[in-house]
Amino acid sequence: MLVFAHRGASGYAPENTLAAMDKALELGAKAIEIDVHCVEGELVVFHDRRLEGKSNGYGLIHLSTKADLCKVTVGGEPIPSLWEVLTRIDSLSNGDCIVNIELKGVGCVEPFIDMYPQILASLNFTAQQLLISSFNHLYLAQIKQQLSQVVIAPLLGGIPTDLAKVVSDLHAYSLHLDAAFISQAIVDDAHQRGAKVYVYTVDNVDDINTLKAIGVDGIFSNYPDKAIAAAALPVS
Ligand code: G3P
Ligand code: MG
Repeated sequence: MLVFAHRGASGYAPENTLAAMDKALELGAKAIEIDVHCVEGELVVFHDRRLEGKSNGYGLIHLSTKADLCKVTVGGEPIPSLWEVLTRIDSLSNGDCIVNIELKGVGCVEPFIDMYPQILASLNFTAQQLLISSFNHLYLAQIKQQLSQVVIAPLLGGIPTDLAKVVSDLHAYSLHLDAAFISQAIVDDAHQRGAKVYVYTVDNVDDINTLKAIGVDGIFSNYPDKAIAAAALPVS
């Protein structure tokens, strides 16, 4: 079972910061999930659509300026750009890490399409190591249309009503599903359609065991060390 460090090792360090990436890799993570917004055409790593709550900033992140963002911190750590995060993970892991880039915000698609060839050309990641996900499936469709080799990983927030359409329309490699709605039938359906099932957000050892027993391929956890240890145990 693959374990994604959710927003980096966000149980131990401020989420989506370089410190959280460092901690995830120190704990042995082989996969990391990050959230992305666009600020003045640059992709930055941050979860919420608004700055307050998770940072000392205020307002909608996509209406901020880069100058504004320089003054903002998350638990004392700066908000990194997507390029900074990918460069950091690449250099610390020697390219031996899967990165799930979740596109959240307004205006992310074009900058991502522009940046993707540069990521593959300049860093050690292969296309297969970069899973591009979003709850916004229109974003994913636009990206797949422009970048044929991109690996698409649709996010679904509730009980999936038409997995067949999601998988085939988007050529999905994996489906990223909410732990609250997962079932054996959904896992089997996804597998029959050739898609892996990765489930968010799971920190409890009993939950990990249950998901493993129904054939879930991977989970997102805020405590990747504990999840990796639990995932390695035989199903009881
Ligand atoms: O990608 C899995 C998970 O991160 C999706 O939900 O809100 O934590 O970004 P959220
Ligand atoms: Mg996310």
